[in-house]
Amino acid sequence: MRVLVLNGPNLNLLGTREADVYGLASLDEIARSLRDAFPDVDLAFAQHNGEGALIDALHAAERDGHGGVVINPGGYGHTSVALRDAIAAVRVPVVEVHLSNVYAREPFRRRLVLAPACAGVITGLGPAGYHLAVRYLRDFAPRARGAARTDA
Ligand code: DQA
Repeated sequence: MRVLVLNGPNLNLLGTREADVYGLASLDEIARSLRDAFPDVDLAFAQHNGEGALIDALHAAERDGHGGVVINPGGYGHTSVALRDAIAAVRVPVVEVHLSNVYAREPFRRRLVLAPACAGVITGLGPAGYHLAVRYLRDFAPRARGAARTDA
């Protein structure tokens, strides 16, 4: 199956950005560890700082027959109605991931506006959150309607 791992604003700076909060792993290192852990999943990776590009990527994920999307929306997770609407619009299960535990930080991070449109949320488990999300999509999520299967 195909899974898109989509990262939002400022996550291109992982590894140097607020390492005490987000850790030392870069986005490339996280991608590599996912490829190593899931050789049976056709993983695609994208990172965009802009809301529109993230929305376009979600639309394309449905069009391209992805069986699931893992999204770390960064700060847009707390604010973006448009991104939430895009998740609700596509017939692909989406898992929201945050590296840090957003509930243990500033109060404004406790509001997750995408979460109701997502299959679930993983927050605070660092890069392991991406692994758990891919595992859920591979092993447990209902298949998206019309999703192309590349493993069978
Ligand atoms: C984040 C948490 C957000 O609050 C923050 O704006 C980010 C990263 C995380 O992965 O912990 O950019 O999504």
